[in-house]
Amino acid sequence: MSDTHSSPSLPLSEVLLLSARHIEGVLAGKSLSDSLAATPAPARAAVQSISFHVLRRLGHARQIRITLVPRQPGNAWLDALLMVSLALLDTAMRVQADPDAFADRPDVPVYAVHTVVDQAVRAADSQAALRQSKGLVNGVLRRFTRERDAILAQVESRPEARWNHPGWWVKELRRAYPRDWEALLEAANRPGPMTLRVNQRRCTVERLRAVLDEAGIASSSPGTGAVTLDKALPVHAIPGFDLGWWSVQDWSAQQAGLLLPVRDGMRVLDACAAPGGKTAHLLEQADLELTALDSDAERLQRVSQNLHRLGLDGERVQIRRGNAARPDQWWDGKPFDAILADVPCTASGIVRRHPDIRWLRRESDVADTARLQASILSALWSTLGVGGHMLYSTCSIFPAEGQQQVEAFLARHPKAELLPSPGQILPGVPGRSLADGDGFFYALFTRRA
Ligand SMILES: C[S@@+](CC[C@H](N)C(=O)[O-])C[C@H]1O[C@@H](n2cnc3c(N)ncnc32)[C@H](O)[C@@H]1O
Repeated sequence: MSDTHSSPSLPLSEVLLLSARHIEGVLAGKSLSDSLAATPAPARAAVQSISFHVLRRLGHARQIRITLVPRQPGNAWLDALLMVSLALLDTAMRVQADPDAFADRPDVPVYAVHTVVDQAVRAADSQAALRQSKGLVNGVLRRFTRERDAILAQVESRPEARWNHPGWWVKELRRAYPRDWEALLEAANRPGPMTLRVNQRRCTVERLRAVLDEAGIASSSPGTGAVTLDKALPVHAIPGFDLGWWSVQDWSAQQAGLLLPVRDGMRVLDACAAPGGKTAHLLEQADLELTALDSDAERLQRVSQNLHRLGLDGERVQIRRGNAARPDQWWDGKPFDAILADVPCTASGIVRRHPDIRWLRRESDVADTARLQASILSALWSTLGVGGHMLYSTCSIFPAEGQQQVEAFLARHPKAELLPSPGQILPGVPGRSLADGDGFFYALFTRRA
């Protein structure tokens, strides 16, 4: 068996140690993107591949560790190393039993069984903080290779192990979608496709696809202005990035720019704009007097960078730091014609791209975020002109950040009218998903006189 995902420059034992640090960080509440950004470049691809895979299997691996080592190790790095190694070992054993087990999943890192055991023990031995646990690592992994069937029979009835999401998350989806919760959770454990949004000011879908074709990159188009690649690639390996021909944006996320009606000359507010994906989409479609607002100064820098690369940073675009729930701090009193309210949310609809999110969130975050959304929506509503449109959008699949929010908003604002809108988009659910797009919620309101 070949080791498909080892880094050319780093032995697997070191990649395991780094990946374990990332998993330890996520379990302590740190975002994976932040810690990956700090990983030395030569190791990043291999560490990311293993960390993503382990996070998609973490509930399973944790329940195996609990079965084999009921008392949680005091050293969190050791605990993470055990879980990383158990996840890879389980994968290796699946492939040993059925070589085609992951034939449709090029993202899954596959190593030989003996390689995982050997490298995990070597990893423990190489670190002063772990060396005394080398025997434990060896014993746990070898016992798993001998008793796998019996251990899995115990473990796989537990929701966290079966679905690789926290128990409260599984319960919430089960309650909200009694028919579809399993399909949703299955979809959440697979990577999403890479979709590009074509910058219509610089390119077209037809032209981009022809150039991709010439470069040997297979693609299709899920709909207006979008191109989905058969295989994800680094942005610089795709023609046209530096020329501002396109941006990476999921197909469900692209609906925001397609749903909010904008025309040349309109006054538009993008109220939670950073890093600017949807801002750019609006500006690609019409010459607008646009305010891109966000409360996070660092993220706002990315709005400027993105608009600059796409050639959209004209003088009619204002980038401002501000709290969307406090228009008194940033609004000049002139009503907007259109508002995009792509509000902060739990991001439960994009876990397939950010597999750490499910482990970072707490159950109470859902209600807390929904409350923040309600206050932002009501504040923004006061800045919308009569006849204007406001699009409420979240990348969530929890009803509190979707349908329930809409009902509460309509009850608070009698002059708000809900226009035909996609509502809840559910990845992996036939009839409720959008091509192979992420989980999103959209509701378009207009303001009556
Ligand atoms: C879902 S993201 C926006 C993504 C962005 N619309 C895009 O398509 O690139 C939500 C954004 O809301 C911002 N945010 C959170 N609380 C806010 C507030 N009270 N006022 C304004 N922005 C806020 C966050 O900093 C984050 O950038």
